[in-house]
Amino acid sequence: MIELIDIHKTFRVDKREVEALKGVTIRVRKGEIYGVIGFSGAGKSTLLRMINLLEKPTSGKVIVSGQDLLELNEKQLRGARKKIGIIFQHFNLLSSYNIFDNVAEILRMNKVSKQEIKRKVDELLKLVGLEDKAEAYPSQLSGGQKQRVGIARALAMDPEILLCDEATSALDPQTTESILDLLLDINEKLGLTIVLITHEMHVIQKICDQVAVMENGQVIEQGSVLDIFSVPKHNTTKNFMRTIFNDEMPEEMVNKIKKVNSYTTRLRVTFRGDAAMDSVIGNISSKFAVDTNILYGSITSIKGTALGILIIQLSGERDIVEEAISYIKGAVYHVEVQAQKEGKQEVLNT
Ligand SMILES: Nc1ncnc2c1ncn2[C@@H]1O[C@H](COP(=O)(O)OP(=O)(O)OP(=O)(O)O)[C@@H](O)[C@H]1O
Ligand SMILES: [Mg+2]
Repeated sequence: MIELIDIHKTFRVDKREVEALKGVTIRVRKGEIYGVIGFSGAGKSTLLRMINLLEKPTSGKVIVSGQDLLELNEKQLRGARKKIGIIFQHFNLLSSYNIFDNVAEILRMNKVSKQEIKRKVDELLKLVGLEDKAEAYPSQLSGGQKQRVGIARALAMDPEILLCDEATSALDPQTTESILDLLLDINEKLGLTIVLITHEMHVIQKICDQVAVMENGQVIEQGSVLDIFSVPKHNTTKNFMRTIFNDEMPEEMVNKIKKVNSYTTRLRVTFRGDAAMDSVIGNISSKFAVDTNILYGSITSIKGTALGILIIQLSGERDIVEEAISYIKGAVYHVEVQAQKEGKQEVLNT
C-alpha cells in the first residue's frame, strides 16, 4: 500500500546541511495502523510528509497504492494526494469559517455539487460526533472537538490513507483516548490505512498494528506492536517501553536483594496470549528447589492479546537454577537473563 524505500532527505539551511532522513525504508499494508515513534528531531514529520510528497526525498522511492509518486506529473500528483488525508497537532482550522465550511472547503475546491456537499459534510460531522456544531466557529470548540473537525475535513475526499502528525499531542489524556477511539473506529468502519507519528508509547499501544522506532533520521527497530512490546531490542525502544512497563529496578531494591549466598539470576519473562503466568511461577517452586522472588509484574493488552512482563529472581544450586530457566523458556514467550551472579554477597548488575 505504502512503500518508502531507502529515503534520504538533506535540508540545506544557509550553508549548513541537515540530514533529516538517512536511508529509511518502511512498508505499510492496506488497512493497517502504522505508528512511528521517536524523540523530537528524529525525522518523523519529514518521513510522514514524504508519503504525500509535501516534502520530496533527496533520494529514494515513494510508492503509494502501486504508483511511484516521484514519476507523476503535477496533475497526476494532485489526483494521488486526494486519496491521502492529513491531520495535525494544532488542527489548522480556518478561524473565520464555521465548522460546516471548514469541512466543506475542500469539497468546494474540488467542484463537488452543493447538494452533495451538504450530504457529505452532515455525514462526516455525524461520524466524528459533531452534528450539532455545524454552525459553531473553531474558537468555540475544545481541543478535542477541533481535532474531530480536523478528522472530518481530512476524510472529506474519501481518502484511502490518513496521515496523523502528533494528532493528540495537544490534548489532555482523556480527550486523547476519545480521539484514538475515533481513529480506531474509522480504521475499522472505512478500512482506512493510517500512518501516525507520536512520541507517546501508549498511543502506539492503544491503536497501532505495526511500529517503527526512529532516532537520528533512521529507523532503529520495526515490527508488529506485539513483537516490539514483547522483546524490545534497542535501548531507545526499551526507554520508550518503560513509559508502559516501568520494569527498571529501583536502586534501593537492588541493594536489598544483593546479599545472596547461592547462584542467583534475574530474568525478564514475557508472556503472551493466555499462557498462565501464575501456574508457571507456581510450578517453578514445586518442581525445582529454588527460591523464587517476583520483583516486578505487569500485564496489558495489545489489540486484544494479553502481554505480561515479569521480572523474577531465582536462586539456588546453579544446575537447578539452570534447569528451572530451561523449564520457563519452554513455557513462556521469551526469557531474557538480565543478571546472574555466583557466590556470596555479590551485587547484581542492573
Ligand atoms: N524545512 C526544514 N528545513 C531545515 N531543516 C529541517 C526542515 N524540516 C526539518 N528539518 C530538520 O530535520 C530534522 C528532523 O525534523 P522533523 O521535523 O522531521 O523531526 P520530528 O521527529 O518530527 O520532531 P518533532 O517531534 O519535534 O516534531 C530536524 O533536525 C529538523 O531541524
Ligand atoms: Mg514532527
